[in-house]
Amino acid sequence: MSASRLAILLSGRGSNFEAIAAAVSTGSIPEAEIVAVISDNPGAPGLEAARRRGLPAFAMDWSLFANRREHEREIARVLEGARPDLICLAGFMRILPPELVARYRGRILNIHPSLLPRFRGLHPQKRALEAKALESGCSVHFVDEGTDTGEVVLSARVPILPEDTVEALSARILEQEHRLYPEAIAKVLAGLR
Ligand code: GRF
Repeated sequence: MSASRLAILLSGRGSNFEAIAAAVSTGSIPEAEIVAVISDNPGAPGLEAARRRGLPAFAMDWSLFANRREHEREIARVLEGARPDLICLAGFMRILPPELVARYRGRILNIHPSLLPRFRGLHPQKRALEAKALESGCSVHFVDEGTDTGEVVLSARVPILPEDTVEALSARILEQEHRLYPEAIAKVLAGLR
């Protein structure tokens, strides 16, 4: 059996990418390899981390493209060349165009720092605190045409504490994200084989 090919799309810090890359190296995501790390932000620390690991890293500075369409086309072209079995969005701050979602339907995952379907979209940790929720968490879900609307693969719960700040809650959730995302990827790959 040949290794499953993973492509990672990110825009920033890249801590989820690092957790995925570590899980691929140790075999807790079995029989997988990362074939492309793509960032729309050329200064993303996650991109630098990919280069340090010797992985194919692609900076796609969207300001260098004539328009959004051209930028999206270039991302699609690089993905096509990488022939991914699974695309993992890991802090990728752009909406994927519907053609790309359709092309890889059932093969794109995202991680979102809330217990979906609650708090879809931006600033979910802040919104969970504002809503006085007693718990929050993170969810790995398939990507469809909506914003954080696709089927949930796995989720993890964390408590919200009385004195919580956005930073403290985000850090507690992030710890779970790093455990959950590799587990969800392994689960989905097992189903695709
Ligand atoms: C994470 O909180 C993830 O859930 C959200 O964006 C953040 C990315 O963090 N989608 P990192 O770049 O993986 O460190």
